[in-house]
Amino acid sequence: MKTNLFLVVLILVLRWSIFLAPIEAGEIDVDKSVSLIAKKLAAFDQSHADKTAFPNEAKGAEWSTVPAKDWVAGFYPGAMWYVYEFAERHHWADQTVWKQRADLWTTSMTQEQFNTSHHDLGFMMFDCFGHGYRLTREPRYKDVLLQSAKSLSSRFLSSVGMIRSWGKVTDMTNYRVIIDNMMNLELLMWAANNGGSAANDGSSADLAKIAISHANRAMVEFFRPDNSTYHVVEFDPTTGAVKRKRTSQGKADESCWSRGQTWAIYGFAYMYEATHDKKYLDQSIKAADYYLAHLPADHVPPADFNSDLTALEFKDSSAAAIATCAFFRISRVCDDAAVKARFSKAAIESLAAITSKPYFSDSADKASALVYQARNYHTDPNHRLTNTSLIWGDYYLMEALLAYDASKP
Ligand code: GLY
Repeated sequence: MKTNLFLVVLILVLRWSIFLAPIEAGEIDVDKSVSLIAKKLAAFDQSHADKTAFPNEAKGAEWSTVPAKDWVAGFYPGAMWYVYEFAERHHWADQTVWKQRADLWTTSMTQEQFNTSHHDLGFMMFDCFGHGYRLTREPRYKDVLLQSAKSLSSRFLSSVGMIRSWGKVTDMTNYRVIIDNMMNLELLMWAANNGGSAANDGSSADLAKIAISHANRAMVEFFRPDNSTYHVVEFDPTTGAVKRKRTSQGKADESCWSRGQTWAIYGFAYMYEATHDKKYLDQSIKAADYYLAHLPADHVPPADFNSDLTALEFKDSSAAAIATCAFFRISRVCDDAAVKARFSKAAIESLAAITSKPYFSDSADKASALVYQARNYHTDPNHRLTNTSLIWGDYYLMEALLAYDASKP
């Protein structure tokens, strides 16, 4: 009887110590993970002759598609640029095929450089043309990026001091800005440093001023005292005054939509990298600390941090992928050794979680590698908004895998 009790206690202690053990870098198989994502990306390309319909979301094996004007369109070519970058770095035999695929789908987005109907040009264009230019230096990609930045800048109104996310630029009754918009600032800052100009014949400096103005006001309006974020802030476009703070994709106006929180962590880390203004790094870290303090043991948040629905079907692993990228960025750009180490550890733990079961799937029944994503908070696990595949999940997972790969000694 005593021996049995001893064995039970021993097994429990061993299991518990395995659970608590720090995740070793060696546990993340980068090559295997990238190869699986690449296989899924290639399968879509090979089975779809129409290169103007981009993968969007999927409950099962088949992606639904969207046209180039949709905010998610750039993630598919962007993910292929990341595969090409990895393929080149590791001397894959088919690296040229990846470059051709990425170029073909990127080129298919070209006309969107003139799109002024929403704020998403940063997501759409920088995530494909930006990587294309970074990796090839082809001037045609640069030209598209500069025009895209100009188009995006046309949605800035100085009374509010932010880029309008949704709605027509002529609407003088309501001016809606969402926290996601922090991710579009990279396009503006890049263009400011590469000879771009703002709409209305503004100069390069104006593009940077717009991005900085947006970030500064976002710091004031989007954060609660505990450093959780609002999703949407509505302004009066005439006076610039705040009218209302609310959610669109989270659980409630005063709740914290988890992906929105990760857009904030990432966006402010980027703004620190671009400007070296310490207040942006501090803001990013404060938002990251909220995220980490509220994270469940498996390192993947529910779609909303204030949700009671914590089962897998209500998680958003895409938020974990974005957070992982942001943590790698904080760790790379900050000078403080302790903060660097803290965020490197957080990034590796998060990446280990999303490259393992149940979040990483090699099942042919799933369109994406990263599963259990949520577009919005939703209470029905069978609804298309939750328990789904989303193309940006695999894009940010690729970015995180590349960051990890580059950080290894
Ligand atoms: N930017 C839209 C989203 O995160 O759903």
